[in-house]
Amino acid sequence: MEVIIQPTAEKAAELVARLIAKRLLEKPTLVLGLATGRTMEQVYGYLAGMHQRERLDFSLCRTFNLDEYVGLAPEDSHSYRYYMNQHLFSRVNIDRRNTHLPNGAARDLAAECRHYEEMIHDCGGIDVQLLGIGADGHIGFNEPLSALRSRTREKALTPATIRQNAALFRGGAKAVPRRALTMGIGTILDASHILTLVTGAEKAAILAKAVEGPITSMVTASALQLHPDCKVIVDEAAAKRLRGRAYYRWIFQNEPEWQEFLQR
Ligand code: GLP
Repeated sequence: MEVIIQPTAEKAAELVARLIAKRLLEKPTLVLGLATGRTMEQVYGYLAGMHQRERLDFSLCRTFNLDEYVGLAPEDSHSYRYYMNQHLFSRVNIDRRNTHLPNGAARDLAAECRHYEEMIHDCGGIDVQLLGIGADGHIGFNEPLSALRSRTREKALTPATIRQNAALFRGGAKAVPRRALTMGIGTILDASHILTLVTGAEKAAILAKAVEGPITSMVTASALQLHPDCKVIVDEAAAKRLRGRAYYRWIFQNEPEWQEFLQR
């Protein structure tokens, strides 16, 4: 795992977008794992900007989102499909047929989850997985006590997650679905590269647990410590509780991989 500290949330999101763009330039048929949430909105804004200004090409790219609420149709404005259409897919030249989210309105949810895993497998696996972290330390909707080897399945949401996501629902917490389909932690860890973006002071304590605490299913983001190529990009506010801050900064300043990102 590598932790990269950026001065602001904007700079952190921009760096994540540039890392994705770099991979997409190297491999136009990239299989990209995508995430939702407020943190990601800026990343998608930067990617859309790069498409417009620099002709960043998404035409051959395939995407798989982490999760979707159970019971929401794709056209529901609170669904993650709607979010993705609005924040990214409608703003770049991606072929919608190459964009995938679990269908939370499927009649047979277990079959839908199996099918989702098969589709990822048939695409050759995920090259780059984008992640955020929930207030309770979840990745995707892998709530506390999710098995560290879990695959795509239906999960009940915790009250903390329902509260956290209530702000995005007209009607507040009462309107938030109680269940979701989510890639498992095993599914996420199978991705070749992982980019995790965490910003804001309210995430500082959970970020410290995820990055520097023990690996535990109580904080499912801590499972990322097992991944051989996981970058965690954060802003100063989120980094406040990290004990190894000075070392992380030193690595970013000195590792050859980061030189091209320092020069701008
Ligand atoms: C939801 C998503 C997570 C995301 C989290 C963070 O719970 N299922 O994938 O990481 O929101 O949201 P925000 O960026 O709004 O803090």
